[in-house]
Amino acid sequence: MNHAGGAAKTTTALNIGYALSVAGYRVLLVDADPQSNLTRWLGLTVPDGPDAKLDTLYAAVLGPAESLALPEPVRAHGMDVIRSCLDLAEVEPLLPGQVMGQMRLRAAIRTLDDRYDFVLIDPPPSLGQLATLAVLAADDLVVPVPAGNKGLEGLSGVTRMVATFRQVAVPSLRIAMMVPTRVSNTNLSRESVEALRSANVAPVSSPLTERPSVYPNSQLHGQPVAVFDPRNAAAAEIQTVARELLEVLGEVPRAETRS
Ligand SMILES: Nc1ncnc2c1ncn2[C@@H]1O[C@H](COP(=O)(O)OP(=O)(O)O)[C@@H](O)[C@H]1O
Ligand SMILES: [Mg+2]
Repeated sequence: MNHAGGAAKTTTALNIGYALSVAGYRVLLVDADPQSNLTRWLGLTVPDGPDAKLDTLYAAVLGPAESLALPEPVRAHGMDVIRSCLDLAEVEPLLPGQVMGQMRLRAAIRTLDDRYDFVLIDPPPSLGQLATLAVLAADDLVVPVPAGNKGLEGLSGVTRMVATFRQVAVPSLRIAMMVPTRVSNTNLSRESVEALRSANVAPVSSPLTERPSVYPNSQLHGQPVAVFDPRNAAAAEIQTVARELLEVLGEVPRAETRS
């Protein structure tokens, strides 16, 4: 979660999700952004046609059956995926008319029982119905924070929102981890990571460095970074952040369990 666009929400959800699945966890990714960046980055086709939205989380929250049933996921890179399409944006005007609408994704995901170890939801860059739906479906929030002034300015908005959600809807909701993203070798970057740590809002992960050659290219090729360029330092950084996430969630990484 981070309502700022370009914070690396999609990047983080997709690549950490992939790292978790490589570590042996069963992962479901949910694209909750009508821009469908996650769907495309995984190399998947965006659902098309008049009923396209029924292939998205729309089916569970506003579908015809009142069933709370998510569509059958599609497979990509060893993960299950609930895709998105532009028509998912119809949730924005319609959800307020649905009984308990904003809690429906939460309920729908909980009907999946033990099919998954992790469900990662990629929210849109807004503060609307879809973003609320996505956040209220979560137990733990991961907040990517781009290094630089803009990111830290947005941070107080994020923490205020989380406080409100806890108060009125999900008391156990918490920010599990903040992830400094797009970190470069500049003073501004270093200072903003330091400021993030001293703000003491939540554990801060190791940084994900700005790497203009690998992230946009892996996106163009429809692959997670670790598939596109496994030896790139970005892949190692992502793996470190995934391991740190497992630690803050109190999980023992599978690989270590086996050895
Ligand atoms: N560490 C990074 N280095 C270089 N480019 C990055 C990095 N992280 C993300 N990007 C690029 O920045 C853009 C925005 O990231 P994205 O994850 O889509 O943000 P959001 O989902 O928060 O809007 C994408 O094109 C992505 O490839
Ligand atoms: Mg995104």
